[in-house]
Amino acid sequence: MTMSKITEAEKYIKIKQEEVKDAYYRNYFHFMPRTGWMNDPNGFVFYNGEYHIFYQYHPFSPEWGPMYWGHAKSKDLVHWQHLPIAMAPDQSYDLNGCFSGSALSEDDKLILMYTGHRHIDGDINKEYRQTQCIAESTDGITFTKDEKNPVIKNPPDFADQNNFRDPKLWKDNDLWYVAVGSRDMNNKGQILLYESKDLYRWSFKSVLAKETGHQMNMWECPDFFKLGGNDVLIVSRQPYNSNTGQHDTVYCVGEFDKSKSQLAFSEFEKLDFGFDFYAPQTIIDQQGRRILIAWMQMWGDDIPSKVEGWAGALTIPRILTVKGKNIYSNPAPELELLRKKEIKYNGVHISGEVILEGFEGDVYELVVEFENKTAKRFGLKVRIGRGEETVFTYYPDNKKLIFDRNLSGIGPKGINSIFVDENEEGRLFLHVFVDKSSVEAFVNQGEKVLTGRIYPSKESKGICFFSDGKTLIREAKIYELKRVFE
Ligand code: FRU
Repeated sequence: MTMSKITEAEKYIKIKQEEVKDAYYRNYFHFMPRTGWMNDPNGFVFYNGEYHIFYQYHPFSPEWGPMYWGHAKSKDLVHWQHLPIAMAPDQSYDLNGCFSGSALSEDDKLILMYTGHRHIDGDINKEYRQTQCIAESTDGITFTKDEKNPVIKNPPDFADQNNFRDPKLWKDNDLWYVAVGSRDMNNKGQILLYESKDLYRWSFKSVLAKETGHQMNMWECPDFFKLGGNDVLIVSRQPYNSNTGQHDTVYCVGEFDKSKSQLAFSEFEKLDFGFDFYAPQTIIDQQGRRILIAWMQMWGDDIPSKVEGWAGALTIPRILTVKGKNIYSNPAPELELLRKKEIKYNGVHISGEVILEGFEGDVYELVVEFENKTAKRFGLKVRIGRGEETVFTYYPDNKKLIFDRNLSGIGPKGINSIFVDENEEGRLFLHVFVDKSSVEAFVNQGEKVLTGRIYPSKESKGICFFSDGKTLIREAKIYELKRVFE
């Protein structure tokens, strides 16, 4: 009997993961593949009392390839257990990849809806087609692809016939709905909405939302949900031409018009203003919290961890809330389970560069509350050493916060900035998570987030606060964090 593709991959991973596991850039607390390449999170779901996450996975090398669905589960969103691969590209309709999709828990079943990606004759030099497919499980570990696959064979005529992917599935009363990424014939991104009574026979309902500007792109990885009484759409935008655009992930807070099955919205805003954030998935958990996890990497970037045999990670889980038309993202409180020792300072006046005793490391959580007095620029540097530093600088006069990774280490560089106000008392808050090859900064209780992969040398563990005038640190706390991925 020939080995199944999943068994073959698992065998390979068992051997390879031993070579990968002690490499320096391996994260301590951010989810990552055992070995090989990962991109989008898929099928984030709460099933039988546990969180499950799947992901786009190519186990055989740290490069993108025919996609498998990797799989892991967790009781608390922090400690994850790797499970066997859930799906391999082994059917005529998904031969070149089981692309992204979503999951739903229904009675005792775990249902996956994903995109079957295949090139004509299986030849990657020929055109490709994408269809929507179903797989099910009753034990949450082994999945059976449905005999009726593909359940949506092609998009409507007015849509690009090649790019049609990343179904987001949900159920409302007794009807099933799916939102699928697409673009029209003029390369404007759009989201297609389908409806079904039985999960297998689908009818096209509407264009849920569509690009109205001049940008040419493909809208992929849609998510559509209610938040604080609003209807929220998240899309990841793949530029039509990589020379003229960059991938990004945006949201809009709008209102779903049931009679037209269309989302009325005015503006898109970024969900994360850093460098490495794409294809997020959200769920609502039993406590009614909307939790988001995204791919913490970016298409087209240099990825130094490839040398170690792996690539790609997920962000920490973030809780979404909405204020007006803005989404706030904050770290899930479960992350406090990672905390070890706390070191805390209150009322430290800084002028020039200040190092606080005990503040150092390459895996930690840092919380700081600044109150500016006279400075034109002040901020925080992390991963300092050997000429390296990763810098967050605030300019109070123009309310600008800059995230600078030009000197972070090897790998991609760049500067990103956001506009944020100090609060009424003139205070600015940063809540920063540093892992071996990443930094995530939550600003002003989640008003904005900046995420970036950084690849400093292992000696670069310094932290300092700086001000070119007088700035008060009202409070600064640092927690060393536990390693959960061995
Ligand atoms: C987004 C994406 C999806 C697709 C998957 C393929 O990052 O391009 O649209 O399903 O990755 O791996």
